[in-house]
Amino acid sequence: MIYVAPSLLAADYTTLGSEIKKVETAGAQYLHLDIMDGAFVPNLSFGPDLISSIRKCTNMIFDVHLMIKRPERYIDRFVKAGADIITVHYEACENPMSVVHLIHSYEMKAGIAVSPNTPVEHLFPLVEHIEMALIMTVEPGFGGQSLIPETIDKVATLRKYCAERGIDLDIEVDGGINDKNVSLLTTAGANVIVAGSAIFKAKKPRAVISAMKNSATTDFR
Ligand code: DX5
Ligand code: ZN
Repeated sequence: MIYVAPSLLAADYTTLGSEIKKVETAGAQYLHLDIMDGAFVPNLSFGPDLISSIRKCTNMIFDVHLMIKRPERYIDRFVKAGADIITVHYEACENPMSVVHLIHSYEMKAGIAVSPNTPVEHLFPLVEHIEMALIMTVEPGFGGQSLIPETIDKVATLRKYCAERGIDLDIEVDGGINDKNVSLLTTAGANVIVAGSAIFKAKKPRAVISAMKNSATTDFR
């Protein structure tokens, strides 16, 4: 089963409520929420208050991607705001495993993200302890970039590692993904697809979301 997670970063902020309804009725199951701190990444986005507000207008799964240095300082804020899954960056944590424990202490699903230059092997000791791994397919910080092709092999490596050990893991991919290139990632083993521009800027978001959901040749999860 493929899950599609439109990234709110690409939405029209003047009509946020209807933008969210648009992607929900078009078949997306997750809503991807990019939190940027201006330190871990050179950009700023929005914070927990916005998430609390939009929590009232949808039951979509809130997939919160924290691009924040030392994210353990803010986990409780995002839990209270209504997150369902909280993903932190491997590179942003002094001790990623302790942040995973902190997220789990709130009975929340935990994910760990790796930026393009971080070897995927760093995730191997963690995969049995997390619900999701996020392989960044662009440098984190901005929407609308082009997918870095070298990141596709990281997805395949991680899926193989998990499959050989019988580990069920959601593998999410994020950045530069559209209905044309998505099958490269779902074939490699990704099952949660983030897309900002390709969905929110589409004339027919339903068609893009359907193409993404139907892009897998193998059911990894
Ligand atoms: C980048 C973010 C992405 C971004 C994706 O740092 O993590 O979620 O919004 O946007 P597109 O799909 O436009 O590349
Ligand atoms: Zn993201």
